Amino acid sequence: MGSLTRAAEEDPTAAEEEWSDEAVIYVNGVRRVLPDGLAHLTLLQYLRDIGLRGTKLGCGEGGCGACTVMVSCYDQITKKSLHFAINACLAPLYSVEGMHVITVEGIGDRQRGLHPVQECLAKAHGSQCGFCTPGFVMSMYALLRSSKQPPTEDQIEDCLAGNLCRCTGYRPIIDAFRVFAKTDNLAYTNSSSENANDQAICPSTGKPCSCRNETDINVNESSLSSSVERYSPYSYNEIDGSAYNERELIFPPELQLRKVMPLKLNGFNEIKWYRPLKLKQLLHLKSCYLDAKLIIGNSEVGVETKFKNAQYKVMISVTHIPELNTLKVKEDGIHIGSAVRLAQLQNFLKKVIAECDLPETSSCQAIVRQLKWFAGTQIRNVASVGGNICTASPISDLNPLWIAVGAKFQIIDVNSNVRTTLAKDFFLGYRKVDMKPEEILLSIILPWTRPFEYVKEFKQAHRREDDIALVNAGMRVYLHEAEGNWIISDVSVVFGGVAAVPLSASRTENFLTGKKWDSGLLDDTFNLLKEDISLSENAPGGMIEFRRSLTLSFFFKFFLSVTHEMKIKGLLEDGLHADHLSAVQPYSRPVTVGTQSYELVRQGTSVGQPMVHMSAMLQVTGEAEYTDDTPTPPNTLHAALVLSKKAHAHILSIDDSLAKSSPGFTGLFLSKDIPGVNHTGPIIHDEEFFASDIVTCVGQIIGIVVADTHDNAKTAANKVHIEYCELPAILSIEEAVKNGSFHPNTKKSLVKGDVEQCFLSGACDRIVSGQVHVGGQEHFYMEPQCTLVWPVDSGNEIHMVSSTQAPQKHQKYVASVLGLPQSKVVCKTKRIGGGFGGKETRSAIFAAAASVPSFCLRRPVKLVLDRDVDMISTGQRHSFLGKYKVGFTNEGKILALDLEIYNNGGHSLDLSLAVLERAMFHSENVYDIANIRINGQVCFTNFPSNTAFRGFGGPQGLLIAENWIHHIATELQRSPEEIKELNFHNDGVVLHYGQLLQNCTIGSVWDQLKASCNFVEARKAVNSFNSNNRWRKQGIAMIPTKFGISFTAKFMNQAGALVQVYTDGTVLVTHGGVEMGQGLHTKIAQVAASSFNIPLSSVFISETSTDKVPNASPTAASASSDLYGAAVLDACQQIKVRMEPIASKGTHNSFAELAQACYMERVDLSAHGFYSTPNIGFDWTIGKGTPFNYFTYGAAFAEVEIDTLTGDFYTRTADIVMDLGFSINPAIDIGQIEGAFIQGLGWAAMEELKWGDDNHKWIRPGHLFTCGPGSYKIPSVNDVPLNFKVSLLKGVPNPKAIHSSKAVGEPPFFLGSTVLFAIKDAIFAARAEEGHLGWFPLDNPATPERIRMACVDSITKKFAGIDYRPKLSV
Ligand SMILES: Cc1cc2nc3c(=O)[nH]c(=O)nc-3n(C[C@H](O)[C@H](O)[C@H](O)COP(=O)(O)OP(=O)(O)OC[C@H]3O[C@@H](n4cnc5c(N)ncnc54)[C@H](O)[C@@H]3O)c2cc1C
Ligand code: FES
Ligand code: FES
Repeated sequence: MGSLTRAAEEDPTAAEEEWSDEAVIYVNGVRRVLPDGLAHLTLLQYLRDIGLRGTKLGCGEGGCGACTVMVSCYDQITKKSLHFAINACLAPLYSVEGMHVITVEGIGDRQRGLHPVQECLAKAHGSQCGFCTPGFVMSMYALLRSSKQPPTEDQIEDCLAGNLCRCTGYRPIIDAFRVFAKTDNLAYTNSSSENANDQAICPSTGKPCSCRNETDINVNESSLSSSVERYSPYSYNEIDGSAYNERELIFPPELQLRKVMPLKLNGFNEIKWYRPLKLKQLLHLKSCYLDAKLIIGNSEVGVETKFKNAQYKVMISVTHIPELNTLKVKEDGIHIGSAVRLAQLQNFLKKVIAECDLPETSSCQAIVRQLKWFAGTQIRNVASVGGNICTASPISDLNPLWIAVGAKFQIIDVNSNVRTTLAKDFFLGYRKVDMKPEEILLSIILPWTRPFEYVKEFKQAHRREDDIALVNAGMRVYLHEAEGNWIISDVSVVFGGVAAVPLSASRTENFLTGKKWDSGLLDDTFNLLKEDISLSENAPGGMIEFRRSLTLSFFFKFFLSVTHEMKIKGLLEDGLHADHLSAVQPYSRPVTVGTQSYELVRQGTSVGQPMVHMSAMLQVTGEAEYTDDTPTPPNTLHAALVLSKKAHAHILSIDDSLAKSSPGFTGLFLSKDIPGVNHTGPIIHDEEFFASDIVTCVGQIIGIVVADTHDNAKTAANKVHIEYCELPAILSIEEAVKNGSFHPNTKKSLVKGDVEQCFLSGACDRIVSGQVHVGGQEHFYMEPQCTLVWPVDSGNEIHMVSSTQAPQKHQKYVASVLGLPQSKVVCKTKRIGGGFGGKETRSAIFAAAASVPSFCLRRPVKLVLDRDVDMISTGQRHSFLGKYKVGFTNEGKILALDLEIYNNGGHSLDLSLAVLERAMFHSENVYDIANIRINGQVCFTNFPSNTAFRGFGGPQGLLIAENWIHHIATELQRSPEEIKELNFHNDGVVLHYGQLLQNCTIGSVWDQLKASCNFVEARKAVNSFNSNNRWRKQGIAMIPTKFGISFTAKFMNQAGALVQVYTDGTVLVTHGGVEMGQGLHTKIAQVAASSFNIPLSSVFISETSTDKVPNASPTAASASSDLYGAAVLDACQQIKVRMEPIASKGTHNSFAELAQACYMERVDLSAHGFYSTPNIGFDWTIGKGTPFNYFTYGAAFAEVEIDTLTGDFYTRTADIVMDLGFSINPAIDIGQIEGAFIQGLGWAAMEELKWGDDNHKWIRPGHLFTCGPGSYKIPSVNDVPLNFKVSLLKGVPNPKAIHSSKAVGEPPFFLGSTVLFAIKDAIFAARAEEGHLGWFPLDNPATPERIRMACVDSITKKFAGIDYRPKLSV
């Protein structure tokens, strides 16, 4: 309860009659009265509860955009309705009272017709797994509704910054929406193709159109340029042909006319929600509830309550208090009400800047620029200035600026006394401000800047868009002229992210005051800044050397940019040296351009055509159902896990007494309650479902709590108290190797030739050695792990729907944990919102956990993991350590490779051995080396079990290989590309594991890429740029890849399918593979359609189910199209053979007639198809065999630009060529390539997992710090290469797979590392400026920290040596 000063037991609203508890909203045009008692609910929970499940829960912390909806409100002053996108997961339900909420269901569906935004996205292949899709649709829709003019392409890309997609690589989404942009003459995706009727298909909308350039289309080949008629009020409504805008939902008249009332409502657990309308009411409430939280955007409070277990009993929404929402231009500056939203402020300041004289608005400009990088659109639309200030976060982006510009804060107390304080005096300590409980922040006064006063902002984050700062700063200098010199009258240098409060560099400021503005003061300033900003070795956030370097870099940039501005204004004679301009040019991003090139090789009605994903229409309308959307049976319980909080410990006791008295608690189940077997594992059963005596990692499951709601289950689970006795833990590969901590029987070896002999023989002119640290990666599928389990016949059978790539594994694990035969357990999966390997084995453990209470209590149980729980407990891509020694000639021919590799298996073996083996197979990439020795072993560490992830160890092996190639190139001072070409292997070579190489196309792929990217010219251009720019450098790289296709465990290379033909000529296909966005069902349906010579629309795939196709291998290893395509083809052929006697009579006019005729003749129209990959197998006892059916080849070129002072980078170009044989569906395959490349880019250059280990002592041992989108940054729309080209090699049928196609899912992933090597190339140029020409390691991910610290200069040298290697959890 908030502490009461007076009227303790009284209702503070009692004196006033007008408080209302009637809350009304409109949802998709329908009036809804919100009952009292829901103050604890978010808008998202409410929407999903009333059945609007198109809006998804991806993270619950405002970081992914999956929950985006549009809200509209009526502005009584302007008499206009305003529309904006918000995150429903953070919006308290009552915060939208009086507003119109529009969800994805409200704008269109398949019955009423799709909205153009939905249609465009579907047809442009912008939806793969579809989990993110409704969020993107709503962001775009809100932009269109809120724009008076058609938006620009820039605005479109900006509005998507708060939406994450893990599948598509964003390019098709951008292209889909570009059709709505104002301009129509810019290049955009330049691919178009022809459909069956030879009509041109618009590349963006997928509709027939006249956009193609007539001369550019070759039959079967897509290419080139287009200009599309855009943003005309057309309709895509296929139902009645009406223009869409005739049916756009209007703002409800009732809400316009209705009198807005102050609100007083309640919520679960005695929560009180107030929405006063007057300042007087607010102050009165505050006087009664001193601890009350003021709520505007709830973007801080929502995160605190959800993730930090904060409990606030009284919430006062202050969005309707006029005094707090003021924005006024006054003599002494701009007055900004504390509840003003950031987006409002941004727009207002932009207007002020446009209308006022330049010198006055230097601070306004700095704030506008800083706000561009503040969160995403959805957050800026709701989050307030006051919320940011009063939270006093040490990494607030605005607080250093408020201090630097001399802003004043007006504070009002409950007695209406107003006092003013300077921003610089306001922040007292960590999240502690100079405000008493009886005070609130009223407004901010942003003073005008004076002539010769300059303000600049700085921010460096992991990711440019929608990320919180690592370090930020606000700087201001006021100069006056004296005797021809510019003298510093006054200066502010304030940093965020370096202390508990924004820190003014006071010694530096004192030193600078009165000094001449001259580069001569830089050295002393740097030395003082170094003293002013000191961070202890284990300061929270880590990256000490980097963060300290940034503070100096920012000041350096400040100095240069002010100097430059003065020169432009004619105030200084000498400006910056031309190459120093590179330090001051702000990052600005042109719009993304994509090109795709492929040939269409049609086989039958459907195979070879760029068909749209079969579920795309369902996904863009929010009609597609995921596991969490499945209606729950009556009596369903909700589960939450009790997880280990220690990396390695004895469990001494488990006390559930508090949990038992928690609301809604129904039961706690521990290891002792397991009816069947407690041990599991996909290969070795070395893991307990529920830890019994000892926990071996943080996040390990100890038990499961069930309760009536998800929230109650979580609350109760949190109350289970466990006493531990801690044991020593192994928290890195190096520690494991040192202590001999390995998983048993995982030592593996592959040998070709004689490495020792070669090294000794003297044949190698040079030998180099080194270590590669390969960082891990979180899957970050957008749909968290989820399962719904229910008993059938009182537990005689168990059924479940699960979000998994391996329903059969769920069936097996559940059967085992319950002691049931597998024949009594059924698992079904309709589609999953991304998996990437993370839902292969690990998901089954959660299904098994949920099945225990379901079975024991005979009730349905649903378990949905919160994003943080998912990330801390489900394992990731393995980190690796590679130690190489490589011998080569002076010409660059590699003669011998000796490699030791270790992967971090975590606390159970899971698939780690197979992952290691694949890494070993891929360790030579495409290079022919006569002598190879590779030894590998899986490390046992006290981390959650690392698991499958796209590429399955291949990328790690390949990354190590490209590292030693680059080492050789540096040693020989040759380009890495030359070394690669010299060592490419060719057909006929026997690989280091004994497989004969056949049909190798790497030469053709490489040559095509080299021509396409114009490598020679690109190198010249980059060199020229680098010689003219000291502080920005460009770099390029070309990387090849060869990826082996097949499961390396031979038995898994089998597939089953069930094909059923119905008498209306439609076909139902069921196969063992899971649709997870990769378009598997679409491709398989294409195979069936072509086989029966029927249209694709006649084929349907409903779900994957263990009772239809038994013993299916997981959908993994990129092989599913090959395997299930062949199995389906087998079934189709069996049916066709049976139909043939009737078909040959030629009496039917359609397939439907044929099917009916066959039925009448009692022909079996159902068949089970089967396929097993021939001629593969590997024998580890001799280290030889043919593990792969064939290889998929590819190569990529990337060009990047880095800011050497901050470590910021962006990808200018990515050009990819892949050999995919004759693609079954080029549009889907291109989507896989783009998505994999961007995911690979994330792994190589952005995504860093930070674990509590020796390198990160500020994190609790064994805990994962980066456990949500707030701290773990996957690529966003802003990270897409500006020029993104993808081509498929033409005319290369693959003799080894169905319809001459090749597998695509994993092979392109590694190509994302081209960006890392291009960054490295740029860093080489930066280091060369300082005379450092030798080899240096650059670990992945090449984050701003690694880039900045590798660009050694006089600044970094103050904090670290030239060999400094930033810390990485490996
Ligand atoms: C996904 C995401 C991204 C983010 N990105 C950034 C970023 O890039 N940069 C950054 O700096 N921050 C970022 N934040 C933090 C957050 O958005 C901001 O701090 C925001 O401005 C808070 O405003 P709010 O209205 O949502 O605050 P609320 O959560 O509504 O309130 C926050 C706190 O302020 C108090 N408060 C509010 N108004 C007053 C007042 N008038 N008087 C006294 N107390 C008051 C409340 O009591 C509460 O304790 C991000 C947050 C999220 C969730
Ligand atoms: S679920 Fe709301 S932003 Fe992720
Ligand atoms: S389609 Fe975007 S996350 Fe899957």
